Amino acid sequence: MTDTFVRTSIENGVMNITIDRQEKLNALNIEVVAQLQAAIDVAASQNDVRCVIITGAGNKAFVAGADIAEIRKLDKEQMRTITALGSGLMSSIENLGKPVIAAINGYALGGGCELALACHIRIASDTANLGFPEIQLGLMPGYGGTQRLSRLIGQGRSLEMILTGKPINADQAVSCGLVNQVVEAGELSNASGKLAASLARSAPIAMKSILEAVISGSDNNLAQGLELEADLFVALCETNDMREGTAAFLEKRKPEFKGS
Ligand code: COA
Repeated sequence: MTDTFVRTSIENGVMNITIDRQEKLNALNIEVVAQLQAAIDVAASQNDVRCVIITGAGNKAFVAGADIAEIRKLDKEQMRTITALGSGLMSSIENLGKPVIAAINGYALGGGCELALACHIRIASDTANLGFPEIQLGLMPGYGGTQRLSRLIGQGRSLEMILTGKPINADQAVSCGLVNQVVEAGELSNASGKLAASLARSAPIAMKSILEAVISGSDNNLAQGLELEADLFVALCETNDMREGTAAFLEKRKPEFKGS
């Protein structure tokens, strides 16, 4: 029987995903990756999920990386398979079309930092420690780290982090833009829950369009990006959510978005 390493719950539009493999600091072995992928597939398919929070169980680690014991045994073909699964998971998080918050409760190293990078908003506890130690293993990031880190914080800082393997603390991470916000460890669940609750009340189709426009912006030139933005913006005028949001403003009441 397979162990359960990923716990999920859905409440008031928010899906909480907790990676729970604490004896290995929540390291991503193939089962954890598969279970995370299954959870993200559920988030994608269910209309009642409007926002997702991903965190690690315990107070020590978000995710301490890919499972070193597992990857050291792999041949090239197996490594390609596992990389496709890990990388595919990160892309399905990034392209979920619903906001995903990483609540970083400790070590976010290697694949753990890549997981946080695939999320759309990162909130870190003041105990968090983020980095890419792969170089010390004779490796490099393989689940999107070289691409997403440099797009987020720039090439110079990324190369310094990835080439040296030296991790940074939460304050350094917020000052270079790697995380959005730092909170006291005891406040992490509250802070991420509060943000998720407010996103879950927001207009789903507009959020999906915003995610698409901003994320694909890094692959497009400015003219293509502006064209996509204009198309998405125009399409929103046909949604009930747009009619509800504008009516609610004029009637001085809170909108109730249905995602239609
Ligand atoms: N893969 C597999 N096992 C891991 C792991 C990983 N990425 N990170 C931690 N573990 C395991 C340890 O082997 C140890 O298992 P054991 O008790 O059976 O020996 C357990 O988790 C606890 O880790 P430990 O190293 O004893 O904790 P620590 O507090 O002394 O150090 C870290 C914490 C995060 C600094 C250290 O675990 C570490 O450097 N981990 C690897 C980080 C890494 O290189 N990630 C990128 C992988 S590609």
